[in-house]
Amino acid sequence: MTVSLRQPTGVAHTRIYSYGAARGELAVPNDDLVGPIDSSDEWIRQRTGIVTRMRAEPGTDAIDLATEATREAIERSGIDPSDVDLVICATISNPKQTPSVSAIVADRVGANPAAAYDVNAACAGFAYGVAQADALIRAGAAHYAVVVGTEKLSDVVDPTDRSISFLLGDGAGAVVVGPSDTPGIGPTVWGSDGSKSDAVGMNHTLTDFRDGKAPWPTLRQEGPTVFRWAVWEMVKVAREALEAAGVAASDLAAFIPHQANMRIIDEFAKQLKLPETVVVGRDIETTGNTSAASIPLATHRLLEEHPELSGGLALQIGFGAGLVFGAQVIVLP
Ligand SMILES: CC(C)(COP(=O)(O)OP(=O)(O)OC[C@H]1O[C@@H](n2cnc3c(N)ncnc32)[C@H](O)[C@@H]1OP(=O)(O)O)[C@@H](O)C(=O)NCCC(=O)NCCS
Repeated sequence: MTVSLRQPTGVAHTRIYSYGAARGELAVPNDDLVGPIDSSDEWIRQRTGIVTRMRAEPGTDAIDLATEATREAIERSGIDPSDVDLVICATISNPKQTPSVSAIVADRVGANPAAAYDVNAACAGFAYGVAQADALIRAGAAHYAVVVGTEKLSDVVDPTDRSISFLLGDGAGAVVVGPSDTPGIGPTVWGSDGSKSDAVGMNHTLTDFRDGKAPWPTLRQEGPTVFRWAVWEMVKVAREALEAAGVAASDLAAFIPHQANMRIIDEFAKQLKLPETVVVGRDIETTGNTSAASIPLATHRLLEEHPELSGGLALQIGFGAGLVFGAQVIVLP
């Protein structure tokens, strides 16, 4: 007689219960960075919309930032930390290749022995993590998940690099995802284009650094290439996510794109023909680009500044090194 395996059954719907945030302790103004890159406060403001970026103290790492954001998200969710059985950290700045940030964060916040793993999908990492938490809970593989985007990018910038260093900040944004009576996370539109892997990423390998063939690896990008790709291709992805969720731009309460560049954010809003009523996340102005942390940090700020957005629909889209992208419509807690 063959034994048939039991299959887990999950729940029909999930939603985001709460957000938590941690920003680096130091507000770094443009003037502190312009010397080595022969730039100016005016150029950076005009081309990127950034006035200051938040950066962490030397003794703070991506794990510390993730822990703080996750603690706040769990506290606000009303869930006991021990009920969290899945922790997904999206990061490209884990100080060590292994162990993962996630396992340490799970332990620090009281969610040990939750399943825990890191996602390396750069600035799309948070949207990827939300897609996975939603799918795994609906499949019955987990009950309550934490998704946290965390970055200490200041450890991987070269102050003399004028392609990206001045954009980057440090921080973490976390959410708790769990069962819901109604759909709270729409279908994810995601993908990659590895043929453009050279457009943004680390400039050297760790082995070249070890062998003395290259300096400490830092981030660099072909700015205009990434800019054009973001503006042309990502708008299509954003539209697809709306279509997949069955909602129109005018149904949105908020639009929260990856905080890459204010000009990209403005161009998205224009091309998506967002009505004036849609509040747009513009956290980049004072936080900078924090890669995987940027969407949840921007959302956390929007919910603080506009509590009336609670219960409304938000379109979020992340895109970056890989190249990779991910977008979905969510219901704001
Ligand atoms: C990086 C970025 C801000 C550069 O802005 P840009 O308008 O594309 O600038 P360009 O590279 O075309 O350069 C325009 C001019 O500014 C100059 N310039 C470039 N970087 C500069 C800097 N940091 N400071 C001052 N001047 C700079 C260039 O030399 C050029 O001068 P020229 O007109 O005399 O030749 C922009 O391309 C960008 O934000 N790209 C996408 C970022 C992104 O989404 N990344 C996603 C992964 S996180």
